[in-house]
Amino acid sequence: MIQETIVITQNSSGVAHIAPMGIHVISKDGVYAASQLGAGAAATATQDEFIILPFRPSTTLNNLLESKTAVINYCDDVRVFAGCLTGRRDWPLKPAKKINGQVLQCALAHTEVELIRVEDDETRPKLFCKAVHTANHAPFKGFNRAQYSVLEAAILISRLNMIPLKKIQLEIDYLRIGLEKTAGDRELEAWGWLMTVIENYIAKDGVYAGNLPGAGSAKAENNA
Ligand SMILES: Cc1cc2nc3c(=O)[nH]c(=O)nc-3n(C[C@H](O)[C@H](O)[C@H](O)COP(=O)(O)O)c2cc1C
Repeated sequence: MIQETIVITQNSSGVAHIAPMGIHVISKDGVYAASQLGAGAAATATQDEFIILPFRPSTTLNNLLESKTAVINYCDDVRVFAGCLTGRRDWPLKPAKKINGQVLQCALAHTEVELIRVEDDETRPKLFCKAVHTANHAPFKGFNRAQYSVLEAAILISRLNMIPLKKIQLEIDYLRIGLEKTAGDRELEAWGWLMTVIENYIAKDGVYAGNLPGAGSAKAENNA
């Protein structure tokens, strides 16, 4: 199973780095789906294990290899996800309990992990971690479609240069349906930050943007 989390790492000077990451979880007593990691990767675990997969190059990868620790934060404030993708990384933190690290103050729960093994890869190394401490801070209040919309839009934005603009446009149009029906203030604010990034990207490249807000005067259609 992949959980969308906020991973906080630290460099050797103690500077914290916050980044959204999809974490592969090998749950207690569970067998991890081989399809997620390729043939032969299935494993029976006796305690929760986590695989963090940062792309090269990334600060998260450098910090984790250096410090061998990280904090995985479970967070329902999607502004943190959208914020990190739009230059807003300054979220309130507090010290971790068992490792030298930082915890997101708004996290519903967090797990402090230590790196136990690295499976190297040119594009996306697999960093296997074990939990050393987990704490709950606030109750999970249920699923919300607008939060899903923001998460998906944030992922699209993190791949803006890799996905054809037309596909991004179609997906944003679909995600907007759930957003408009169910969003609260936090989700609307996060969505606004993400849409501004897309509008700026489109304005820069001069490509058609369908009905993205504020992008109606864009010029040529991108069929890539
Ligand atoms: C929900 C979500 C999940 C993400 N998962 C990953 C991931 O597993 N690996 C990764 O390298 N980037 C992932 N990203 C993108 C990174 O958060 C973003 O590119 C970030 O800047 C990583 O680079 P950094 O460590 O240098 O900041 C994800 C983004 C979002 C919004």
